[in-house]
Amino acid sequence: MSPEYSKYTGAQVANVVSVDAVHPDETIIERAAAVLRAGGLVAFPTETVYGLGADATNHAAVARIFTVKRRPFTDPLIVHVASIDDVPPLVADFPATASTLARAFWPGPLTLVLPRSVRVVREVSAGLDTVAIRVPAHPVAHALVRAAAVPVAAPSANLFSCPSPTRAEHVVVDLGSAVDLILDAGPTPVGLESTVVDLTTDPPAVLRPGGVSVERLREILPSIVVKTAHASGAAALPSPGMLTRHYAPRTPLTLFEGVPERVLERVGHEVQVARSNGQRIVVLATTDVVTVLRRTLDEHVMMVDLGDVEHEQTVASSLYQSLRDADALGADRILAFQVTSERGLSLAVRDRLRRASAGSIVSL
Ligand code: TXA
Ligand code: MG
Repeated sequence: MSPEYSKYTGAQVANVVSVDAVHPDETIIERAAAVLRAGGLVAFPTETVYGLGADATNHAAVARIFTVKRRPFTDPLIVHVASIDDVPPLVADFPATASTLARAFWPGPLTLVLPRSVRVVREVSAGLDTVAIRVPAHPVAHALVRAAAVPVAAPSANLFSCPSPTRAEHVVVDLGSAVDLILDAGPTPVGLESTVVDLTTDPPAVLRPGGVSVERLREILPSIVVKTAHASGAAALPSPGMLTRHYAPRTPLTLFEGVPERVLERVGHEVQVARSNGQRIVVLATTDVVTVLRRTLDEHVMMVDLGDVEHEQTVASSLYQSLRDADALGADRILAFQVTSERGLSLAVRDRLRRASAGSIVSL
C-alpha cells in the first residue's frame, strides 16, 4: 500500500497504478486499454475530473458503470474519443456548428450533444436519441482513449450525487475495489466537469456550465443560450446533471447568496445561533470572506478556504476537494458563501455550489 492511501482505512488499493501526468508510460496505458477492451472498468484522470471508463460499444461493461456508481439508468454518459475524426461513426448527423466548436475547443473540457448512431449502445444515452461526446486534453486520458481504440463511456468516477473526484484518492474512497484499475496521475487541473452543449436544439444550449466558459463559446457561437434551470424528477431529463441534488457533501450545506454585507451579517448570526444550540459549524468561503470572518467570529468556528476570489481557476480546481474537506470535519452543518462573479469558470463554481446545497439556498 502506498503511504498516501494508508489514511483511507478499509479502501482496497491494490488496483491503483501511478502514472506520469505529462508523459504517461506506454506499458501502463496499454495495460489499461486492454482492461477496457476486455470489458473492464478503468478510472483515469482527465483535465476536468477523474472518469470511470468502459467500452461504449459493450452493453455489459456500460451497465457495470451504473451499478458501481449507483447511478440511475436514466442519467446518460459522456463518450470520450481521441479525435474529431472518431466522431462520425457515433453520430447520425455532425452539423457545421459541431465541427466549428470541436475545432475551437477540442481536445478540452467541452462536451457536445449530438444525434446518436446505432454504434453507441442505448444504455450510454439512457435511451435518448442523442449522445454526448468529448475529446479529453489530459495526456493520460488522451493516450488511454487512443490506445483503447474503442469509444470510452466515462462519467465522473464518484458515487452518484457525491462531489466529483479530482484526485485518485477520491476514487479509491468512493469506488475502491469495484474498479478494475485506477490510474493515479495526481490532481486534475481544471477540477470541474466539462461544459455540456446541446447541438440538437435551435439555438444550441449550454446544459451544464463547466471548463469552457460561456463567454468563450459565445465568441464562436453568438446564438448560444444557457439552460441550466434546476429540473426535478428523473425521467427524460434533458441533462440529468440538472437534478437539484448533485455534487453534494453528506453534511447538510446551506448556501448564502446576495448582497455581500447582508450575507456576512446573516451568516454571523446563524453561526451564533447554531453554536448556542451546541451545533458544530463549518464555514466555506473564498479567502477575502474567510479573512473578515476570522476577525469577527469565535476562533473555534471551523473554516474551509476556497482560495483567492480573483483566481477563478484556483477556486474551481479546489472546489470538490474543499467540499470533501468540509465534510470530513464532521460538523452538523456547512454554511457556504456563494461566489459573487458569474464570469468565466465562476459560473460553473456557482452552479456546483447551488447543487451542493440541494436547494437549501438563502438569497439576501
Ligand atoms: O468533465 C466531464 O465531463 C467528466 C469527465 C470524466 O469527462 N465527465 C462527467 O460525466 O462529468 P458525468 O456523467 O458525471 O456527467 C455527464 C453529464 C450529465 O449531466 C449528463 O446528464 C450529461 O452529461 N449528458 C450525457 N449525455 C447526454 C445527452 N445525450 N443529452 C444531454 N445530456 C447528456
Ligand atoms: Mg458526475
